[in-house]
Amino acid sequence: MNAAEALAALAECLGPRGLITDPADIAPYAEDWRRLYRGRPPAVLRPGSTAELAAAVRICAEAGLGIVPQGGNTSMVGGATPSARGDEVVLTLSRLNRVRAIDPVDLTLTIEAGATVKAAQDAAAEAGCQLPLSIASEGSATIGGVLSTNAGGNMTLRFGNARDLVLGLEVVLADGRVWEGLRRLRKDNTGYCLRQIFLGAEGTLGIITAAVLKLVPAPRERLVAFASLPSPEAALALLTRCQRHDPSALLAFEYMGGDGMDLVLRHIPDTQLPIAAAAHYVLAEFASPRPAAGLAEGVEEMLAQAMAAGEVLDATLAASEAQARAMWRLREEHAEAQKRAGASIKNDVSVPVSLVPRFLRDAPAACAAFMPGIRVVAFGHLGDGNIHFNLRPPEGMADEDFLAQDHAVMDTVLGVVRRLGGSFSAEHGVGQLKTYLMPEWRGGVELDLMRALKTAFDPHGIMNPGKVLPR
Ligand code: MLT
Ligand code: ZN
Repeated sequence: MNAAEALAALAECLGPRGLITDPADIAPYAEDWRRLYRGRPPAVLRPGSTAELAAAVRICAEAGLGIVPQGGNTSMVGGATPSARGDEVVLTLSRLNRVRAIDPVDLTLTIEAGATVKAAQDAAAEAGCQLPLSIASEGSATIGGVLSTNAGGNMTLRFGNARDLVLGLEVVLADGRVWEGLRRLRKDNTGYCLRQIFLGAEGTLGIITAAVLKLVPAPRERLVAFASLPSPEAALALLTRCQRHDPSALLAFEYMGGDGMDLVLRHIPDTQLPIAAAAHYVLAEFASPRPAAGLAEGVEEMLAQAMAAGEVLDATLAASEAQARAMWRLREEHAEAQKRAGASIKNDVSVPVSLVPRFLRDAPAACAAFMPGIRVVAFGHLGDGNIHFNLRPPEGMADEDFLAQDHAVMDTVLGVVRRLGGSFSAEHGVGQLKTYLMPEWRGGVELDLMRALKTAFDPHGIMNPGKVLPR
């Protein structure tokens, strides 16, 4: 079957609502959020059911057409953008967005992959529960996307990564068969854990179409604190203090450097600091399933002790939901502010939590030695040892000249990460941006095993080609 015949067969199988072929309508799917990659997909598939998708996959397999699943198109690493060769279609599951079941006793939500994370959170909240997954792009990121990329986010420190929240999956395989693994069991010790193979595989082994997610009881009291600190070491000391104070209450612990905060204040309307400007900030969230848990009193006392110990310069607690939201905006708008400010080279790295301060000292020094005047924007999930260490060009350097050196700049940062025993991608995945790092960082036995999995699950290489594993 050639490509034209495949498109005709796909049109027949998916119907007019299920296939987009007009170039103007395809355009938004062809480019990634950061505008680093532009593909040439001949079509976008929009199946209305798992069965329709399975039939479409069989057609693509026969024609050798690659399939690039795309959720909210918020990948930081070009993970959902097809190649420019014209032989890969984009798949959107936007029509597969139903809640299939929710059970507040089992504490499970069965939901289709095209639903946004926000829709899943809302469904959980309506049932008096919480989906303990929160990321900056949750309004557009989809369940299929966050599971395929094993997203991290703001509550990983308390509830783990996306892969820790999944009990069951439904997956369309590369040969068009469907794995119906939507179990909602807390215990099931029957052989290899297949769901974990698809979680974080970035769509290279199969297409997740629905999932059973774990919920937790909704928090009844919530508290957001915002603090300025003299140093990264002080931020780590405050983290330890918060954990010792009440490990079950600490939900998020986010670090922001002063330079990134300045970008937010400059580029994002209606933002202002709740305390005086400083070089380092922390946002911490605490929650309890008990009403009137007295979070504020305890946290206030703990912050006073931290201030007396010189760990905290100034701190404030959100007095209302609106204030809490405003504090979170200062953190969550970092990526958008940076995009508006111009070019940036992103590093999504992790090191052992205890070594974050060393990383935050050594990495800027290494970058400055490589390129004098380079500007650092460092922020992220300090509680998980995950720092978004992003770099902007020195004043006066053209964006293109800066971006042309992206690998050298990334290698400079990664040299420090390697010395500290870290990872080159903590939560954004590998996509197409970072495949070149795989042989060096995951070579030998690990890459052999990954290639063996790829061959077993996708022998013809049609599932998100060119992502995760080097072509
Ligand atoms: C975040 O934590 O805000 C995201 O991972 C975005 C980013 O790295 O820019
Ligand atoms: Zn992040």
